[in-house]
Amino acid sequence: MNLPKPKTVNVDLYIGGLSNIQNVPNLVKLSANESALGPSPKVLEIFKSGFNLKKYPDGKSSKLKETIAKKFSINEDQILIGSGSDEIISLICQSFLNKDDEVIMSEDSFLMYRIYSQLNGAVVRFAKNENNKFSVSETLKLVTNKTKIVFIANPNNPSGTYINSDELVKLRKKLPENILLMVDDAYAEFVTENDYKSGLDIFKNSKNTVVSRTFSKIFGLANLRLGWGYGSKEIIEAANLFRPPFNISGIAEKAGCAAILDDEWIKKNVEHNEKWSKIIFEKITSKKIITNDPVANFFLLNFDNAKLNSEQAFDIFINNKILLRKMNTYGIKNSLRVTIGTDEENKTFLDILDKNF
Ligand SMILES: Cc1ncc(COP(=O)(O)O)c(C=O)c1O
Repeated sequence: MNLPKPKTVNVDLYIGGLSNIQNVPNLVKLSANESALGPSPKVLEIFKSGFNLKKYPDGKSSKLKETIAKKFSINEDQILIGSGSDEIISLICQSFLNKDDEVIMSEDSFLMYRIYSQLNGAVVRFAKNENNKFSVSETLKLVTNKTKIVFIANPNNPSGTYINSDELVKLRKKLPENILLMVDDAYAEFVTENDYKSGLDIFKNSKNTVVSRTFSKIFGLANLRLGWGYGSKEIIEAANLFRPPFNISGIAEKAGCAAILDDEWIKKNVEHNEKWSKIIFEKITSKKIITNDPVANFFLLNFDNAKLNSEQAFDIFINNKILLRKMNTYGIKNSLRVTIGTDEENKTFLDILDKNF
């Protein structure tokens, strides 16, 4: 059969973390930075109330945009709705990248920036970190006249570190105006540090910055696939051209509206995260495992000074039914990532640490 030839692309394929392991039933998954407490009870009510599956959803997701716009005092027509923030990243890359363009990201950031950039023909430049953090000066060193997008996740996954608002403002100021800055706010709601401001807080009125947000993390809706982006009208209109007409389901839209309005549930999640991240941080560091300060809902664990290496640690946790994320796909040596879980899951995690380190 003579099929048309598929495009040839030079891409580092996404290899996700494991979500189950054969022969290990009831595995506790602390590997994907999902929410500890799950969705708001108000969202769960929507799922109980029945839904008209026969009809197409509103392709413009008008209710969700209206709800988001009201909540953050932003303009509806500058919001882009996506099937996860993953799709927002993809739409931005599709609409702004051409063959041989360049993008810049930090050496250890979210894999999808690299993958969507490569799929659209761009070359990825990796900026060195400074003290395990995104470095504005290293990023600026890589700027050329081919640079189209700079990506930053703040806080960053998987390092768990963040740059303060002054640094983020400096990055935008020092980058040439014609470069699009994409600030990924996936973990913004968890952060309580005084010197932190989310991308949305800083860049509401920016002409050349796009911000992405997700319902997969603090809102506990990773399975529903829902995210959004915010940028100037020009950016959002350009990205919308590539958006499939019904890219999110009606039920996702309804759930998103309920989730974003439930401030009480968000607060509960932040408190849970703050409490446990401090406890877990103390324990991890007491075991000579090197990690980031508590900022988001996960820790990157480096085992260079610890009693066991990352492979041994991974196996011990699996034998105790806890799945952590290996860091091989990120090229980060002797390290694992752990997500903060429920009370019970965290206690089990700490107990295993105590018994083995
Ligand atoms: C920094 C960052 N951005 C984006 C995402 C993607 O989230 P989603 O596509 O579920 O919205 C993740 C998921 O882990 C992430 O860590």
